[in-house]
Amino acid sequence: MSTSPLAGKQPRSVLPAARLRGEPRLPGDKSISHRALLLAALAEGESLITGAGDGRDVAATAAIVAALGATVERVGEDGLNVDYRVSSPGADGLHEADGVLDCRNSGTSLRLCAGVLASLPFFSVLDGDVSLRTRPVARIIEPLRLMGAVLHARRSDSLPPLVVIGRPPLRGIDFTTRVPSAQVKSAILLAGLRADGKTTVREAVATRDHTERMLRSRGIEVRREQTSSGGGPVAVTVEGGARVLPLNDHVPADPSAAMFWLVAAAIHPDAEITLRSVGVNPTRRAAIDILVRMGAQIEERAVGGAGTDAGEPLADFTVRSGELRAIDLGPADVAAAIDEIPILCLAATQARGRTTIRGAGELRNKESDRIAGIAGGLKALGAHISVDGDDITIEGPSQLIGASTETFDDHRLAMTFAVAGLIASGSTAIDRAESAAVSYPSFFTEMERLRA
Ligand code: S3P
Repeated sequence: MSTSPLAGKQPRSVLPAARLRGEPRLPGDKSISHRALLLAALAEGESLITGAGDGRDVAATAAIVAALGATVERVGEDGLNVDYRVSSPGADGLHEADGVLDCRNSGTSLRLCAGVLASLPFFSVLDGDVSLRTRPVARIIEPLRLMGAVLHARRSDSLPPLVVIGRPPLRGIDFTTRVPSAQVKSAILLAGLRADGKTTVREAVATRDHTERMLRSRGIEVRREQTSSGGGPVAVTVEGGARVLPLNDHVPADPSAAMFWLVAAAIHPDAEITLRSVGVNPTRRAAIDILVRMGAQIEERAVGGAGTDAGEPLADFTVRSGELRAIDLGPADVAAAIDEIPILCLAATQARGRTTIRGAGELRNKESDRIAGIAGGLKALGAHISVDGDDITIEGPSQLIGASTETFDDHRLAMTFAVAGLIASGSTAIDRAESAAVSYPSFFTEMERLRA
């Protein structure tokens, strides 16, 4: 399968910016883009998805949907986002692919597709790049087997490639996830759509609920029981046998991508950046709220959506330079801001005091070991960061000094070190910086426009 297409490329240098001004374009939300494509594949008829992120991860899901027998057309594109028209025969008309389904770098493609494939009566193999082959799959094998599907994976069912033999009709289950994971929850719910009876997923901390919202906006009943009002324990239930209707949705801008610019402006001494129509789903905005608690000067204005934004609330943001203070984050914060911990670590290097992030172990299961990666990169830049088991401590503020950083082909590390380069003295070298295109193809173009 694909190895890194980036091997051997020269590191990219980022020089400090005298000032940052402007409105960077943002990619369509990666999580929502994947889900929209998969729901379009399950729905019989023609779906239109506008503003989907055109990063490599979402492209992997689009190619998988096509390999299973839907027609996927790119009807508009601008180098950052893409409009897809998907014509599908519906779940019962999809067929076995001719080859291995290549998820490339995308854990979301792998886990969500496994849920869909569990209910399709044929043999599939999901594989990916060298990074994906190190990421755990037991967490989805267990529930999908309980539902009746047959799954096998390498290393005693722990690592991809993953074989899925769908066994419809599946059995509904009541399952409590071992780690809070929207990917696992979504895989089970997608399988549950085609199961007999109810399927319930219980999680200790509420994770992103895009799947639930998108199903509801397709007329499918999804029950959600939450015992506390915050992000505490939650149980989500779908009824089997639901028919998925085609969609016509616009994908909101990705809040995880927006965070790079929110932090860039917050830590830069002369910055003002505006971000438009960002998705502010309560299960996705934790990192923004953490940055506000750290003292960032962020103005937020709610935007009335056209009602077609995948059932998601939107807001515009303006962020200006300001002083940050340290913060203490625990395991529930880590689960809620899982993709933004690296960029929050950079913010913490510029915050007054000692920031602690406890219980961040799940970061080791991402596109790279993000605890090791962020600590290595920020240390190289002169930050005071230490790791003790799954806990991270950062003392700030410290003047960053340009140096070589290693991204391990991880898009979020590449973008974090690039933002660091905007405030570091001298030149910051980012190896394999092009991995940013996994989620944000125009990231470096936007960065150059902001400094102009
Ligand atoms: C995602 C869920 C998260 C996140 C990933 C996208 C999703 O993974 O890290 O980038 O789209 O459901 P986990 O569910 O494994 O935490």
